[in-house]
Amino acid sequence: MSTDPMGTITGLLTETRRYPPPEDFAAQANINDPAVYERARKDPEGFWAEAAELLDWDQRWEKVLDWNPPWVKWFVGGKLNVSYNCVDRHIKTWRRNKAALVWEGEPGDERILTYQDLYREVNRAALMLKNLGVQTGDRVAIYLPMIPELPIIMLACSRIGAPHSVVFGGFSPNALADRINDCEAKVLITADGGYRRGGIVPLKENADKALEQTPSVERVVVVERVGRDKHPVQMREGRDIWWHDAMAQVSGNYCPPESLDSEHPLFILYTSGTTGKPKGVLHTTGGYLLGVALTTKWVFDLKDEDVYFCTADIGWVTGHSYILYGPLAIGATSVMYEGAPDWPDKDRFWDIVERRGVNIFYTAPTAIRSFMRWGPEYPAKHDLSSLRLLGTVGEPINPEAWVWYREHIGGGRCPVVDTWWQTETGMILITPLPGLTTLTPGSATRGFPGIEPDIVDEQGNSVPRGQGGYLVIKRPWPAMFRTLWGDPDRYVNSYFSKFGPTVYVSGDGAKQDEDGDFWIMGRLDDVLNVSGHRLGTMELESALVSHPAVAEAAVIGVSHEIKGQAIAAFVTPRAGVEPTDELARELRQHVAETIGPIARPDRIYFTAELPKTRSAKIMRRLLRDIAEGRVLGDTTTLTDPSVLEEIKQRYAASE
Ligand code: WTA
Repeated sequence: MSTDPMGTITGLLTETRRYPPPEDFAAQANINDPAVYERARKDPEGFWAEAAELLDWDQRWEKVLDWNPPWVKWFVGGKLNVSYNCVDRHIKTWRRNKAALVWEGEPGDERILTYQDLYREVNRAALMLKNLGVQTGDRVAIYLPMIPELPIIMLACSRIGAPHSVVFGGFSPNALADRINDCEAKVLITADGGYRRGGIVPLKENADKALEQTPSVERVVVVERVGRDKHPVQMREGRDIWWHDAMAQVSGNYCPPESLDSEHPLFILYTSGTTGKPKGVLHTTGGYLLGVALTTKWVFDLKDEDVYFCTADIGWVTGHSYILYGPLAIGATSVMYEGAPDWPDKDRFWDIVERRGVNIFYTAPTAIRSFMRWGPEYPAKHDLSSLRLLGTVGEPINPEAWVWYREHIGGGRCPVVDTWWQTETGMILITPLPGLTTLTPGSATRGFPGIEPDIVDEQGNSVPRGQGGYLVIKRPWPAMFRTLWGDPDRYVNSYFSKFGPTVYVSGDGAKQDEDGDFWIMGRLDDVLNVSGHRLGTMELESALVSHPAVAEAAVIGVSHEIKGQAIAAFVTPRAGVEPTDELARELRQHVAETIGPIARPDRIYFTAELPKTRSAKIMRRLLRDIAEGRVLGDTTTLTDPSVLEEIKQRYAASE
């Protein structure tokens, strides 16, 4: 670590507030026996094998773990089906008439699907996929808003063993095309549009642009979300079909679930890495479902009578694991909301909590910081007494936001679980267990039972408590990703080479305090975390240099009160190009169009040159020092230190 990214955390380790589990909460909690940690530590495989009873297996496994570092297989020889576990088995019980998905559209429309309803829809959607020629192993790309057809089609894919790849609806046509091409999807499922802050996101138009460059896609299914009268779209004869027409062509209501190998690919989800090309994180069947089911049950203390609301978008891993697969695997009621938190007003979430009687609420620190800025009067307008547990995920949460969340949303009575995990980890790995763990605001506390996190130095040695280092995981866990789609070398090089093939390198920095609690400090690599969304600096830089006015660009993350990090881009225009405000606006727009609106840079700074080492590496850390007003770090390796003076002055002038 060249700089001290750990520096900022020092103050936090002095946090002294502690919140032990309330007695009545602990007494009723799904897990309240502290011996669970020791049991899992002594015999992790035995622990997971016992936990695997949570699922219904068609065929029992022969071996719990086959570990040929870095490659892993879990529940070898076992067979099961994810949609069977999430739907079929529940309709054989009293849960048949229980709400599985409680969906609310942004305009205020609603759909509630019981497990029986979901069973019918998933079966018919699976038959529809088969009618369209999708077979076990074929990839299905999904580009939908947060509507019920999204979980329905994901479960339908899992039913026939066709791995899905969901692309967040906020991504651009380019980003969609890259992802479709990387996994060579045969079918694309999209919609005419989706609602966001009262406007319409033109998903079909975006998809049409993407489809100009995606030879693998044979058929496109279009859900009519917005309606022809409001937002007509083009349908291409022979390729495109409306969801309702394709469903009407289905005969029968039952599609037998494929009995799939425990290691059969369940989904591919793209995430940002340190290079420009997004990484296709591959998750498989048995281990993934077990990991998300068990963590849902223990971390969120989810019970049959609860209403659970996770505010993520299913386009991200949080939605996959903790709106859909985890909750449904254990037969829970999961609330799904289509739109923005401030539409029609800034109390939309609290309105949902009150009207639906939500008991467990899971959101991101960036959202909590927005709630704080909007003010406590919005939650105060509503009766939030149904809430009994709160969770956060996506970025480090500052203790003040944590305490505000506990007080103003949780009424001072709800435990707050700060859950650390990643697209790659599939499931929550570092987290409190709310019936057992004494909480410290700002800390994700400790490894889930069976998980062995550690903090190591550059040589891979564990560091003493209080010292920062690389956050690593030292033993495989069932829900971990198995590879990067089509790029096993990158899997090994990015995650399992720095400290050898048995140690998973998360890319985050962390520290343990005197109590052994983990404090996550954020990414140590060139990955930004903007409002909880992962973006690679290289991705952003290539988007910038793809504009004809740009010669070179360097992108950094700058601390931001609400977003966690904001995107600042230092841009060298091509010879003869005037660096105007107009051009800055155009470049911001260009990045938003190339990747998606979440990637729009907050600030563009023009500079005649970028600070570089003699080997031509851009020194981003010096740019960060300038942007965050720090004393400049070591500049001796620069070719021309005067470059920095110029950038500094320009920076100061534009602030
Ligand atoms: C960050 C989201 C601190 C971290 C589930 C990680 C967190 C990245 C936390 C993964 C947390 C996630 N505290 N940081 N509780 N949870 N992160 O893949 O930097 O979108 O590496 O998965 O988010 O983001 P991803």
